[in-house]
Amino acid sequence: MRILGIETSCDETSASVVEDGREVFSNVVSSSLKDHQKYGGIIPEIASRRQLELIHTVVREALEEAQLKLEEIDVIAVTKSPGLIGSLLVGVSFARALAFALKKSLIEVDHIKAHLYANFLRFKGGEFQEPTLPAIGLVVSGGHSSLFHVKNFHHCILLGQTRDDAAGEAYDKVARVLGLGYPGGPILDRLAKEGVNKQIHFPCADLPGTFDFSFSGVKTAVLYHLKKNKASDEFSVKRIAYAFQESVVSILVEKSIAACKKKKLKTLLIGGGVAANSALRQKFEWRGREEEINVFFPPLSLCMDNAAMIAGLAFHLMKSKG
Ligand code: KG4
Ligand code: ZN
Repeated sequence: MRILGIETSCDETSASVVEDGREVFSNVVSSSLKDHQKYGGIIPEIASRRQLELIHTVVREALEEAQLKLEEIDVIAVTKSPGLIGSLLVGVSFARALAFALKKSLIEVDHIKAHLYANFLRFKGGEFQEPTLPAIGLVVSGGHSSLFHVKNFHHCILLGQTRDDAAGEAYDKVARVLGLGYPGGPILDRLAKEGVNKQIHFPCADLPGTFDFSFSGVKTAVLYHLKKNKASDEFSVKRIAYAFQESVVSILVEKSIAACKKKKLKTLLIGGGVAANSALRQKFEWRGREEEINVFFPPLSLCMDNAAMIAGLAFHLMKSKG
């Protein structure tokens, strides 16, 4: 079954063809990020206008790359929610119209579960070890930081989530107060590698007894440190980046491992934009080995918003529809 996926939940316009929920034939992603950078964050009105301008071309390119015609597609899939309402509306309207015109089935997919599904995708000819379910799933993105007990892709139980900022949002806000630009995640990730130190420590709320997260405290701690120390000779943005990242990564890793232990599960799936973080990947690999837990990350290109994860998850939803 060949599924054309469409993802327009935020600033990325993406289309992809995936076969049988596994093999990625194409995954085209176009972003309006540059149009938002000067504002230091995503402007919903601009994002939805750009979605409208880009969607036709992106879908056409995804079909061309997959060397398929629209008639050769079996099902259309689209991100239903969550996301920016105007951006979502473009994808959903486009997909509904396409499915109606072609007389094909339409599957509407949850964006967050799809981020976890990215671990089950492979590119043609690529190496692949398929995760086994049940598993614990951690979704860390600009909009979400959530832990799930993934029994299967129809049955994901929310164990905990952020009570304030999402992890990616905290990265973006800290980068903004440090005057580093948007999006903050990749910039801080890069700077942290050159700022290794033990002198600065930013505490991150633990919220014991829960699988919830809170990142607003660590963000405020960075702000206070900045105000107090920016005139000092010792002041270093790289060292702040390292200390901030250490705190955020530690809490994400340890809570996820604790969830695996509590549910007696040996598989951990990570997804979302922050899953691209090099320190997070390293620490999960190390702690996973120590605890004998198999930790899975999507390839970097499938961590950020993409339509392959939508088309992939839609295959399983389609199968259950019969
Ligand atoms: O999943 P995504 O593309 O969009 C949402 O669904 O939100 O995630 C975007 C988020 C941004 O907040 C960005 O700063 C963060 O992912 N991000 C990273 C890295 N690359 C992207 N955060 C930390 N380290 C990275 N390398
Ligand atoms: Zn996302």
